[in-house]
Amino acid sequence: MQLRVLGSSAGGGFPQWNCNCPQCDGVRQGRVRATPRTQSSVAVSADGRDWLLINASPDILTQIRATAQLQPARALRDSGIAAVLLMDAQIDHTAGLLMLRERRSPLPLLATREVLAELEDSLPLTRVLSHYCGVAPHVLPLDGSRFSVPGLPGVVVQALALSSSPPPYSPHRSAPRPGDNIGVLLHNPATGARIFYAPGLGALTPELLELLASCSAVLVDGTFWSADEMQRLGLGTRSAADMGHLPQSGPGGMLEHLARLPASVRKVLIHINNTNPILIEDGAERAALAACGVEVAHDGMTIEF
Ligand code: MLT
Ligand code: MN
Ligand code: ZN
Repeated sequence: MQLRVLGSSAGGGFPQWNCNCPQCDGVRQGRVRATPRTQSSVAVSADGRDWLLINASPDILTQIRATAQLQPARALRDSGIAAVLLMDAQIDHTAGLLMLRERRSPLPLLATREVLAELEDSLPLTRVLSHYCGVAPHVLPLDGSRFSVPGLPGVVVQALALSSSPPPYSPHRSAPRPGDNIGVLLHNPATGARIFYAPGLGALTPELLELLASCSAVLVDGTFWSADEMQRLGLGTRSAADMGHLPQSGPGGMLEHLARLPASVRKVLIHINNTNPILIEDGAERAALAACGVEVAHDGMTIEF
């Protein structure tokens, strides 16, 4: 099986269109050693032809242009994207759904009951899409059971409710429910290998860490290096925790947790905000990650499992 990172950045991308922070300006002007990144999405396939898109980012058209496997190849109208799975109802994970409206048949859409309801009511993308291709919703169970993705033989997923935050527009923003945010275990039924993907992860419990230890690779929340990154740069008033993201540095941070995982687990940070210093390829924070055996996802990164 194959996982391909389509977009490794958090909402806004890198550089962000309206941001003049030292990193966004630096990458635009070529003053820093860093690589631009599109917004948060990965794709998984068992056969290399039909793919499960995980998150539909606002950059989806750019991502399809950069990925031959997702382009039409078999019929007059065609796509390598067979179905879409959503981790949450955030704009950076859902706005791309509108770009898929030219499909000839309803788009299979896998998400929790909570996320499907947000997209029907608060940010009514599925209601809008019903006037175009429409969606075929599939409710992801949160009881630990495995789910075979319809139309994608060999792609088996398992959704896990995570502690994070629903989107700013959600009526549930200040009272998160299980199902507002999930992580997903991607199973290779042929080998038993699995990958854990969670671009938004507010806290790591001992149970979750135990699960991560059994994976061949984990791709986890790399949004912020420090808890007050946005505030210190004068770019926001909310902390990483307020936004449902566990920062990498400091006591109880992501790096401390990842260090407890066995060496056999490939550790990758993904959903990286444009302010995060780990984007600087010759910087001290990147060197600190390398010393712990932690990688930084980039667009086009491919992981076989
Ligand atoms: C988040 O995960 O917090 C988002 O990237 C925010 C956004 O899309 O604006
Ligand atoms: Mn996001
Ligand atoms: Zn910036």
